[in-house]
Amino acid sequence: MRHSAAVWDYRAAIEHTKDWNGMDQVVLRNPQGASARVSLHGGKVFSWRNEQGEELLFTSSKGIFQPPKAVRGGIPVCFPQFGNCGSLEQHGFARSKIWTVDDNPPPLHPNDSHGKSFIDLLLKPSEEDLKCWPYSYECRLRVSLAANGDLALTSRVRNINGKPFSFSFAYHTYLSVSDISEVRVEGLETLDYLDNLRQRERFTEQGDALTFESEVDRVYLSCPNAIAILDHERKRTYVIRKDGLPDVAVWNPWEKKSKAMVDLWR
Ligand code: BG6
Repeated sequence: MRHSAAVWDYRAAIEHTKDWNGMDQVVLRNPQGASARVSLHGGKVFSWRNEQGEELLFTSSKGIFQPPKAVRGGIPVCFPQFGNCGSLEQHGFARSKIWTVDDNPPPLHPNDSHGKSFIDLLLKPSEEDLKCWPYSYECRLRVSLAANGDLALTSRVRNINGKPFSFSFAYHTYLSVSDISEVRVEGLETLDYLDNLRQRERFTEQGDALTFESEVDRVYLSCPNAIAILDHERKRTYVIRKDGLPDVAVWNPWEKKSKAMVDLWR
């Protein structure tokens, strides 16, 4: 069989443009009209829309862009630490650095490439960065949008010069939901969690599903590789699948704390 125009050209589905602050961004589109927008500031996916054009991630329209601080929302990348310990800034520096695009990325597997568009971003330390965290690494983030609209983020951290280092890593995803009292998280029942609101004391989840009636700030340990977030009001379910990242963080600052955060409002 001869391949002709029916062959999907993933490069044609990628647009390099600027965001409202003049920062470089990459837009991925699939043949059905779904899209994902990725900013080079922080390597952050800040928009993910389905075929109907509905936004699936939360990003505040009130966000104040004050580099190097990132605007809250989307999918911030937490590296080389998740949380707040030692001398590094909370959730690490990757989310506030400028990433670059890899123009010659490793190809997708042929069995997994149809209708998929993707971009690879890279983060490497500058001389200045090495003064804060003296390790040579290359962090690669692949963002891909599948033909069915699924979004996948794949990360790889390479040690460049062999000097050992340890790190933690997280995607701090802000999902767009309707009324938080209409939302439940399934897949965390019976698991142990560390409660950040109680000095990281360890508890066991007792309920059938996690619902929200007050502030929640927890890290569930050794979770199954699929969890679901059900938004009853919107009749929408997010299924989050993961591989190689054992824990799941659930954070909702609730009213009092979120009122104090200007960029947590639509
Ligand atoms: C959560 C932390 O993961 O992230 C919270 O447990 C924190 O304590 C929240 O407030 C947001 O962090 P940041 O640095 O983006 O404001």
